[in-house]
Order: sequence, then C-alpha cells, then structure tokens
Amino acid sequence: MDKKHVLGLSARLLLFIIPVIAGSFLVSGFLTGLFVDRGIKKAMNRLMVYKAEDLMRHTSSQWNLLLENNLQDDSAYRESLRRSIRSYSITMLREDGEWILAVDEEMNIVFSVGASDADELLRESILDNPLLESGDVWIDGSFGGEERIGYGFFLPTLGWTVYITDLRRSFFGDLSYIRLYYTIMVLFTAIVSSLFIIFYVRRSMRPLRTVISDMHGIVQNRNFENRVIPVQNDEVGELAREFNLMSDYLDRAMARLKNIAHSEAEARIEIRNRERETLDVLSRVSGHKDPETARHTSRVGMYASLISELRGDSLEESDLMRWAVPLHDIGKVGIPDAILLKTGALNAKERSVMEFHVNIGYEVLKGSASPVLRAGADIAISHHERWDGSGYPDGLKGKDIPVRGRITGLVDVFDALTTTRPYKKAWTFEQAIEFIQGKSSIEFDPELVELFIGGLDRVRAILDEYGDDDTVESALT
Ligand SMILES: [Fe+2]
Ligand SMILES: [Fe+2]
Repeated sequence: MDKKHVLGLSARLLLFIIPVIAGSFLVSGFLTGLFVDRGIKKAMNRLMVYKAEDLMRHTSSQWNLLLENNLQDDSAYRESLRRSIRSYSITMLREDGEWILAVDEEMNIVFSVGASDADELLRESILDNPLLESGDVWIDGSFGGEERIGYGFFLPTLGWTVYITDLRRSFFGDLSYIRLYYTIMVLFTAIVSSLFIIFYVRRSMRPLRTVISDMHGIVQNRNFENRVIPVQNDEVGELAREFNLMSDYLDRAMARLKNIAHSEAEARIEIRNRERETLDVLSRVSGHKDPETARHTSRVGMYASLISELRGDSLEESDLMRWAVPLHDIGKVGIPDAILLKTGALNAKERSVMEFHVNIGYEVLKGSASPVLRAGADIAISHHERWDGSGYPDGLKGKDIPVRGRITGLVDVFDALTTTRPYKKAWTFEQAIEFIQGKSSIEFDPELVELFIGGLDRVRAILDEYGDDDTVESALT
C-alpha cells in the first residue's frame, strides 16, 4: 500500500493551532477596538455637547441679569454681554485647533475665538451646515476650509448661532494613538502566543521523537534485546512500553528461530553424512566382486571432483561428482561372475553382456529422489561413450555425451592405467598421462584433457595419498 505523504505531527499541530489562536486574537482585538472606538467617539461628542450646554447656561444667566435690571435694550450692556460670552468662550478653549464661532441672523460674525477669521469659506461652511429643527447641528467635514467636527446651536435670546468646533485630527488624535497602540498590542500578543505555542509543541514532541529514534535504532540494528526508555508516563510512555513488549516477543521468537535453524543445520549435516556413508557402502558393494578395488571407486570420485572444480563448476556440483562418480560401475553387480571375473579376452557375446553393466547401473539408479543417485544414473549410462562416437551404449559424440559421463570416462581410464589389475601391471604416471593426451579428441574431451593436465600436481597428490599399495611405485620396480 502506498504511504500517503503528509506533514509531520508537530507541523500539522502548529498549522492548526497558530491560525486559530492568532486569528482569535486578531478578530477579538478588532471587535474590541471597534467598540472602544465607538465608545471614545461617543464620549468626545458628549464633551462637545457639554461645552455647548455650559456656554448656553452662562449666556442664559448673563441675559437674565440684563432682564432683571431691564437693560436688555441698552447697546452698551449688550456689547458687554457679547464680550462676556466671548471671554467665557476663550476660557473653554483647551487645545490648539479648537474654535468657537458665533454668527448673528444676518450671518455676521459676532465673535470668533481660537482659530481663523471669517472669510467666504466660512460663510459657505455655515450655509452648508444649516440648523436643524431642534436648533442644533452636528458638523463633520470641511468647515472654514479645514476638516473639522463640531456642534452648532442657536441662542434664541440673542438670535446667535454658536459653533464649537475642533480640528478632526486633533479631536480624534488620541483615538488614533489608542488605535495604533491597541493594534500593536494585539499583534504583539498574537506573535508572542504563537512563539509560545511553537515552543510548547516542540517541547511536547521531544519525548515522542526520542522514543521514535530509539525504536529506529533497535529496528535498524536488529537489537531486539535493547529497550526503549518510557520517558513520560503518558501516551508516549505507553507507546514505548508496547514497543518493548513487541520487541521482547520478537527477541524470543528470533532466539527460537535461531535454535530451530541450528538444529536444522545439524540435521542436514547428519543426513548428508548418512547419505555419504550409504553411498560409500553402495560403491564398495559395486566393487565387491569387481577386480577393481574400493580405492579405485573413491579415487575416481576425487579426480572427477577435481576436474569439475577446474572447470569452474559450483561447489555443489564438484561435491556431487565426488559422491556420484564412484557409482559408475554399480551395474556390474548384474554381470555373471564367469564374464566379470574372466582373466582372458572376452568374446563378442561376452563383451556385449559385459557392456550391459551401463544399462543395469542406469536402471538401478534412475528416478531416485537423491540428486547424487540421479547423477550416478547419468554417469553409469554415459561413462563408456567416446568423444569420436565409438563408445557404447548409444555411440554419442562430442558434447552430446553428458559432461559428467565425459569426466568419468577420462578419470576411470586414468585410474585403471595407474593401478595394477589382474590382467596388467600399473603404468607409470607419465605413461598414463601420455596415453590420455594421445587419446584427446578421440576417446576424451580435449578441453577436459587440458584441464586435467593443468591440474597434474593435484592429480599426483591424490594418487600418492589414496593409491593402492601396488600402484605406480610397484609398477616402477
Ligand atoms: Fe564401466
Ligand atoms: Fe571403473
């Protein structure tokens, strides 16, 4: 099954938590800011109205004073009233930019304190902000050529309209600062909390990483006897403990498997040894009546194994040759003694009976479950074939003859030449080699002859060690 490629656990946690936390801060910060903004605006406007009411109260008390003394029509007192209201207005100014303007019903300026003098712009501004039915007006926009906000109200006793205004930027100046600081604070909090979350998630993941790294080490090195240390008593610790249980089980299972494999290997060795012993017995049985000796069967196995090795065959093949080649003449057990043990020359009929040993050997060994015996069958039927096709039983030629048969044919003749037989004495090693070389490409496979000659030292060593007592040396005497 294909593994789905996904981000790591900590990356996924961070990708989920940080937007949620930072987003919550920003949204709640934004909403809170909005309400604060509205609240402050309301308070500022309220302040403006409060100033207006204060001025109205002062005007009203001054006017009442004139009424009580019946001086309301005296122009000097009225001028004095105007100055008093103007002075009071000046005391109400707190900051640069504040401006209190009073105009009469003909749009003439009664007084102007705090800012620019009257001009056409001012007249337009007043016309643009007519009084409402309630007798007042909120100003928010261009007034006297500047961006202002303010409050205008009508003084019915004097027939004046008074505008108390402030520059928009100074009126809301504090609010801008508050907004700026508030935004910085919200962003700072969002960043700090995100950093804290990153730190916390990383720190929380550390035990898991340690456990995974330990597990990795154990699995990579197959050290199932090692244990992961459960650092914490939580889910990670639980994971470590479960892994330990599993590796404990694996450790025991592997130990059992090793024991089984060891026993199996021992059993194989035992079976192989028994098989070899049986093959040895079989070879000796085949040579029991034969004038050839038990040592002959053993030596041809060794020579054949040597040639197989020199050919570059596998170790299995050269080993198989060691045990299969000695069975080449097993079919001789089916040949009557009169022919088998005859010392004189055989007549044609006797010869054909004698040659039948290859068929008997083949029939006895073929179809066995043992690879060695099956190879023995092939060797039995083909070891008297000759390279030039003059051999028996099938007259096979060249490489049509199975290579095991070709090898056996060569070493069988060589061993017969170098050992004493009832009908002949042993040849010298050199004579035998010369004979073999002479029969190359006639009786024997030339490639095999060449390999055999190339390995003469080892051939000689086998003959020296396993030769019959009356072989080469006796032949030399
Ligand atoms: Fe034979
Ligand atoms: Fe033989």
